[in-house]
Amino acid sequence: MNFITLTLLLVYQVHGLSFPKCFKFGFATASYQIEGGWNASGKGPNIWDWYTHTYPTRIADLTNGDVACDSYHKVATDVKLLKNIKADFYRFSISWARIFPTGQTNNINPDGVRYYNELINLLLANNIKPVRIISLIMPIKYFPYSGIVSKPGSPSTNLPKSDYFVDYADKVFSLFGDRVKTWITFNEPSQICEFGYSNGAIAPGYTQLGIGNYMCGRTLLIAHAKAYRLYEKKYKQLQKGFIGMTVHAVWFEPAAEGKTYAEAAEISLQFMFGWWEHPIYKGGYPPVMRKRINYLSAQQNFTKSRLPYFTKDEIKLIKGTADFLGLNHYTSFLCSALDSGAVQSPLMNPDTNVTCYQPSSWKRGASIWIKVTPWGFRKILNWIKKEYGNPKVLVTENGYSDKGELQDCNRVNFLNDYLTELLNAIKKDGCNVQGYAVWTLMDNFEWGSGYTERFGLFYMNPSDPNRARIPKMSAYVLRNIIKTRKIDT
Ligand code: NOJ
Repeated sequence: MNFITLTLLLVYQVHGLSFPKCFKFGFATASYQIEGGWNASGKGPNIWDWYTHTYPTRIADLTNGDVACDSYHKVATDVKLLKNIKADFYRFSISWARIFPTGQTNNINPDGVRYYNELINLLLANNIKPVRIISLIMPIKYFPYSGIVSKPGSPSTNLPKSDYFVDYADKVFSLFGDRVKTWITFNEPSQICEFGYSNGAIAPGYTQLGIGNYMCGRTLLIAHAKAYRLYEKKYKQLQKGFIGMTVHAVWFEPAAEGKTYAEAAEISLQFMFGWWEHPIYKGGYPPVMRKRINYLSAQQNFTKSRLPYFTKDEIKLIKGTADFLGLNHYTSFLCSALDSGAVQSPLMNPDTNVTCYQPSSWKRGASIWIKVTPWGFRKILNWIKKEYGNPKVLVTENGYSDKGELQDCNRVNFLNDYLTELLNAIKKDGCNVQGYAVWTLMDNFEWGSGYTERFGLFYMNPSDPNRARIPKMSAYVLRNIIKTRKIDT
């Protein structure tokens, strides 16, 4: 073999891999972030409507999701975008209060059902598979009475009410399950529980540090499992769909060589990711999590562990309740144990006794937490493969934020580099990844950051009364990747 052939071969090894034909590409959105129509045609207020209206200054640019991308009135426009960009699937979520304004499933809003039927039917007519998140943005009437941690102020005395969610999921399967075959119960439960029910940084803004998060976690895992079992028993044979949960996972890399650093990274992964996936794939909480929280609770003079126990029946109920693992991945951190003298970052769960950080030299997007680390994507996929026996993975979000540039070279580079690592994980490491969704189709309401951080492949200006969607450079690049199944470097 001469030098030129060898060079060509090496280049081919890196750049010549292509995605399998059966691999699916999609785009992700979420109801509150795009729909608007917050009180249109019978929709009830939900916890985000209440939160943004009650505390407008908690949103960086004082905006909210009242109109957002106005997708509620733009079904045909959105499906056309998806079609033009060659999407195989569309991951979107249901707004609970749009179809059940008060939460109760005996009080249905026909126009909400009409909206989702129209969207699903048009997607299918265009050969785009709907992937649906059942979603936990609760109707406001349900908070605090049926809250995740029960009544604020007395969280330990009331039982969490996972059954409200299961009842809602039941109705959703029966309304849409004849056409929707991929279901996600919850999106990012860590974020819901840590920020919504422990430090109160997002809706519903409930604060009970180090307690609310674990109570919420327990409720969500039980609610997820009950919804899965219900589907298995009542709908699976007829509807033949699949159910999973989507967990956000950053990759935690040891900050240096040596056992303590490796342990610090592993503990962080278990607290963020194992919290959800260990009960589902292995049974019960990760041992390191149980041990640490029990130990700290005793030191802090709690009579019981702050991490509530599952009964034996609950462990059995939860184990095995995933047909696929939904993964949202954006970035990586470097980790050290606190014993090594490091100071804990406020981003970390104090119970980990670990601190992780992102060096300022790493390139970042508009969101402070997204540092561009494509290498971490391959690593987290390989960790999942090893830890849980190579389950089916659906990447349900990955993306980059900027300020809304049309010539979005940084996003193009981000997507190219992350997709290259994904391809390596599939083709060189044998990771069982079945599909990949970009966050997000169009610029939308980014929670506490409002519109100051833009993740869309289509530009959308919230001051434009028409909410026009304008393709960015990344939309063309991604369309080409989907078409050719090859990365466009
Ligand atoms: C995860 C969330 O699911 C989504 O709502 C959010 O906008 C993106 N990450 C970016 O922060």
